[in-house]
Amino acid sequence: MELSSYLKSDKAEIKHLFENVFSESEGLEEGILIANLVNDLMNNTSDRDIFGFVSKDKGKLTGAIFFTRLFFDTQIEAFILAPVAVITKFQGKGIGQKLIDYGIEQLKRKGVQLVFTYGDPNFYSKSGFQSISENIIKAPCDLTYPQGWLCQSLNGSRIAPILGTPRCVKALDKPEYW
Ligand SMILES: CC(C)(COP(=O)(O)OP(=O)(O)OC[C@H]1O[C@@H](n2cnc3c(N)ncnc32)[C@H](O)[C@@H]1OP(=O)(O)O)[C@@H](O)C(=O)NCCC(=O)NCCS
Repeated sequence: MELSSYLKSDKAEIKHLFENVFSESEGLEEGILIANLVNDLMNNTSDRDIFGFVSKDKGKLTGAIFFTRLFFDTQIEAFILAPVAVITKFQGKGIGQKLIDYGIEQLKRKGVQLVFTYGDPNFYSKSGFQSISENIIKAPCDLTYPQGWLCQSLNGSRIAPILGTPRCVKALDKPEYW
């Protein structure tokens, strides 16, 4: 398995991957919603505000992950992981975990201080995320499931409170994703 940054030439295959994986796990409507999100993220986010990584097996895409910037009023480099998917028949083989760990390592090298995500704490705790109260750091949108607001520090510092509400990139800024 090879891990790398995604290329422009991967875009169509990545969109299909998210549509197929989420349709299979959560139904066609969710598949289309997430495929449109990913398309929007890839095409309408400034390069400095997005990282995308893929896993390939003999050149064929098996998984993909995106991180986009969270904008705080203070000078802090923060990104949010969303979304990630692994082709259904390749799930449960450790690819998802490797993609997350690889992405986080790349962010660390770029000087990112905090990484957030919104999802299943049991799954993401395996990659170092912990639940964080919105009394400490707010999410950019109203959360349906506040226990799913997760964070980790990438520079060894303790997670300290940050005032105000961060802004996410435009593609993510829709209530249906939260
Ligand atoms: C979630 C997903 C990316 C994980 O990728 P994967 O390659 O299947 O995961 P891994 O094989 O690396 O699993 C890592 C660990 O997490 C566990 N795990 C996997 N999916 C999980 C889930 N949805 N909930 C809780 N735990 C999960 C595995 O059991 C494994 O634990 P173990 O190491 O203790 O056995 C993949 O299953 C997927 O694409 N699912 C559908 C889309 C989705 O839900 N994406 C996440 C939200 S954006």
